[in-house]
Amino acid sequence: MASPFSVVDLLLLRKYDRPGPRYTSYPTAPLFSAGFTADDFRREILATNPAGGTGDVSLYFHFPFCDTLCYFCGCTMLITRDRERIEEYNRYLRKEIDAIAPLIAPGRRVVQVHWGGGTPTHLFPDQIREMGEYIRKSFRIEASAEMSVEIDPRELGREHLVALRDAGFNRMSMGVQDFDAEVQEAVNRVQPEAMSRRVYDWARELGFTSINLDLIYGLPFQTPGSFETTVKKVIGFGPDRIAAFNYAHVPWLKPHQKLIHPEDLPSPERKLEILKRTIEMLCSGGYEYIGMDHFAQPGDELARAQKSKTLYRNFQGYSTKSGADLYGFGMSAISHFRESYAQNTKNIPGYYRALDEGKFATHVGYRMTDDDQIRKHVIMRLMCDLELDRTAVEKKFGIEFDTYFESSLHDLAQFVDDGLVSLSGRTISIVGAGRLLLRNIAMCFDAYLGTMSGNKPVFSRTV
Ligand SMILES: C[S@@+](CC[C@H](N)C(=O)[O-])C[C@H]1O[C@@H](n2cnc3c(N)ncnc32)[C@H](O)[C@@H]1O
Ligand code: SF4
Repeated sequence: MASPFSVVDLLLLRKYDRPGPRYTSYPTAPLFSAGFTADDFRREILATNPAGGTGDVSLYFHFPFCDTLCYFCGCTMLITRDRERIEEYNRYLRKEIDAIAPLIAPGRRVVQVHWGGGTPTHLFPDQIREMGEYIRKSFRIEASAEMSVEIDPRELGREHLVALRDAGFNRMSMGVQDFDAEVQEAVNRVQPEAMSRRVYDWARELGFTSINLDLIYGLPFQTPGSFETTVKKVIGFGPDRIAAFNYAHVPWLKPHQKLIHPEDLPSPERKLEILKRTIEMLCSGGYEYIGMDHFAQPGDELARAQKSKTLYRNFQGYSTKSGADLYGFGMSAISHFRESYAQNTKNIPGYYRALDEGKFATHVGYRMTDDDQIRKHVIMRLMCDLELDRTAVEKKFGIEFDTYFESSLHDLAQFVDDGLVSLSGRTISIVGAGRLLLRNIAMCFDAYLGTMSGNKPVFSRTV
């Protein structure tokens, strides 16, 4: 596939570099408020689960614990080696499952399960098996369900993967980040290539059908040459998917990122050069650019879903399961139904306290308006299909697109002038390097950006 960089001007990308959301939800998480309570969440579950309800369900479980701190980490995680602490958390996770599972209409089937973190494989194999069994007995999981897990190859034995397969997992995402020794030391994540290779080979041998490898560009001491070596090695593994994340440096939100010295970070120009080379290598290495840091082999479900316009975006990134209600379990986990979002508290004592009191652990949430639904659809379709049919939106929502989105189209004009978006007939298409600016283009349709003015920036930079 041609690289979106065939026509790109790096200076043009720099022009658009600014803080912006990643749109794993719309409205974005900073809009969630304590006005949406645990009682609201309960009402929402009851309202969306009438007797005889049949809609698909997706389940997310958050395992926050990790063995050691990666200085770049932007995830909601806690470092611990205290096994009792991990077991205690698992007990509360089961408590939450016990509170929610019986409220889901028995006819509803689970089509997707995801374990994220933190590091789910920081559990012992027996704990993985036990939790897997508990989930299986608590929900109606389809035989063909997509069951994915995030794994860290460090501290991981083959028996962890066997336990995951026993629990029904068929896909995995493995953190690699960078193979360069100097970069690994600077971010406190020493993970030799042979270790990643060994775990990858076990996973293939055990029958994981889809394997994703995570990379991060923009880390300390990375150069275009050093990262090229990493990308070449990763392509050599042959994963089904590769995510090349733009390092989100947000020390005001993640104070441990101050352990990364700004002077060691690649300059914006270098970072763009790294991105350019990465995309060129992945595209010429047989991967398709899906959008927003994600690449997939052409036969992979993500690439196929993009072609058939059934791709979807959720809190884990891109997904092929649209329309399923998402139930999130664990501290910080987010649930999303058609009209609402609910996020659990991000601190463990608060999470335990709520469950001990027989309440849901909802800390903040959001009820969507009609306008939110329209904008969510537009942003989702643009980020997944890389194009939007204005007539289809008009039919779906009964609006006159150009009038409704007058100010959005005004903001979009600069992208059109710069050759990043094309308007042909009723279709808005993201073209060329515009595909690397999906966040910026989506921002034109976000009604709330102007209202989020605080002292501190909320989002990471878009380029
Ligand atoms: C929960 S971790 C994956 C599982 C496991 N904890 C690990 O690190 O191998 C999710 C992924 O988020 C990415 N990530 C973490 N912090 C990031 C940051 N600040 N900027 C960009 N990507 C980040 C990493 O690529 C990481 O693999
Ligand atoms: S990157 Fe993964 S292993 Fe490292 S601290 Fe974050 S969640 Fe834990």
